[in-house]
Amino acid sequence: MITMMDTEQSWALITGSSEGIGRCCALNLAKKGFNLILNARSSERLNELKVFIESHFKINIIIIAGDISFIETRNNLVAQASQRDLSTVILSAGFGLVGKFDQLPIDLQLNMIDVNCRAVVDLTYRLGEVLKQRQKSNLVLFSSIVGFQGAPHSSLYAATKNFIQSFGEGLQTEWKDKNINILIVAPGPIATKFAERAGMRMDGLVGTPEIVADSIMNHLGQSITLFPGFVSKFLGYSLLLLPRFVRTFIMGKVMRQAVI
Ligand SMILES: NC(=O)c1ccc[n+]([C@@H]2O[C@H](COP(=O)([O-])OP(=O)(O)OC[C@H]3O[C@@H](n4cnc5c(N)ncnc54)[C@H](OP(=O)(O)O)[C@@H]3O)[C@@H](O)[C@H]2O)c1
Repeated sequence: MITMMDTEQSWALITGSSEGIGRCCALNLAKKGFNLILNARSSERLNELKVFIESHFKINIIIIAGDISFIETRNNLVAQASQRDLSTVILSAGFGLVGKFDQLPIDLQLNMIDVNCRAVVDLTYRLGEVLKQRQKSNLVLFSSIVGFQGAPHSSLYAATKNFIQSFGEGLQTEWKDKNINILIVAPGPIATKFAERAGMRMDGLVGTPEIVADSIMNHLGQSITLFPGFVSKFLGYSLLLLPRFVRTFIMGKVMRQAVI
């Protein structure tokens, strides 16, 4: 779905690009010739990625290291993006928490809302204005297979992803006439640092960030919800066949076992 018009001198902004799915997306977009604005908190990891990409591809890279829950970081991202031909925004930064709601620190849980929801809403609002200036542009949001029902033992994380799923579905229609394609990505379990950061065990069927990023590239330009790769599709679609209360029950069993 990517055309030459998308890539020639156009820019992609990716949050959460020092690791995991965001990093793989950055590599894929660099291969296609996009210039990149990269964000995550770790400037060291981002600089390593910049050096690696620049040794393989002839593109421009800007690094904005910082926490996206801080308004200053978001202001810097918007300022850089506004001066460029921004065609693609991938808001991959996010984290999860497993454990019972009343046993997890409230400050950390509120920060999860700030990172997974508040920052995404603010960046979508402000970068959306930049994307609207193009004939065609892409916004990629991250939901999850846990975002289609409650998930006991990861209740708030699931709620943040439910929020993104619902928000994205609404925007897909609202922004149709603005030619912003909104791809909502709903991965199943993916082998990245995500599990370790969430304090969870991830066994059984697990996908890779490369497969997720490849699937995103193949569907860029479409306004759909994407279960990326076999594992996400298999788990996502088989769960959706079940009534919501059964899905919540299953999620509770899975998440309880995942608590380290
Ligand atoms: N992996 C899965 O199983 C899975 C499943 C469903 C959905 N997802 C969603 O997919 C997205 C990507 O996850 P992933 O698996 O790639 O996770 P990951 O490997 O942990 O990578 C997360 C990225 O986000 C950055 N980040 C975290 N907090 C940040 C903050 N406050 N400000 C700026 N950057 C921040 C991290 O870098 P720094 O630490 O350097 O900031 C890192 O680059 C997330 O939204 C996640 O919820 C993942």
